Amino acid sequence: MASLVFYVTVACSLTLALADMEEVPFTSCNTAAVSPSEVRVNCSSLVRGVCVLTKGQTYSIQADFTPEVSAERVESSVAWKTWVEMPLLGQNPNACLARQLRCPLEDGDSTTFTYPLHVPTYWMRRRYPLVWRLKDQTSNNLLLCFNLRVQIVS
Ligand SMILES: *[C@@H]1O[C@H](CO)[C@@H](O)[C@H](O)[C@H]1NC(C)=O
Repeated sequence: MASLVFYVTVACSLTLALADMEEVPFTSCNTAAVSPSEVRVNCSSLVRGVCVLTKGQTYSIQADFTPEVSAERVESSVAWKTWVEMPLLGQNPNACLARQLRCPLEDGDSTTFTYPLHVPTYWMRRRYPLVWRLKDQTSNNLLLCFNLRVQIVS
């Protein structure tokens, strides 16, 4: 009986954790870099294609993609993209060590990039077009690039 309760509890939390993630619209970058096949975020809400993020919370950004080259060391970066690009401060760029990716990346093997994005309270309340990039640290080649629109609320 106790184990039944345990399994039901585990099943429910798994369902909740999965249900949290929503498929969000994204655009590809004006480069030859690979685009994701799907991007998911546990947005606070999704309003007309814009993922709403609440200050002080941490969100999980997941991007499925198929690398076109293999890579052992991968650097991730995220920037706020207006008329000039502003890198978001305090991010962890070491995708392999931070376990944002299963490394090494293998050419043609689909994988998922998972990024924990913390929204600090000092971010302005507004819409942010964000650009995410994964780079091969050895060759400096761009591996993945996509744009995501988020809206910051208090
Ligand atoms: C989003 O998911 C991550 C990973 O599961 C979790 O740590 C985080 O608290 C979630 N954020 C919200 C706002 O639900």
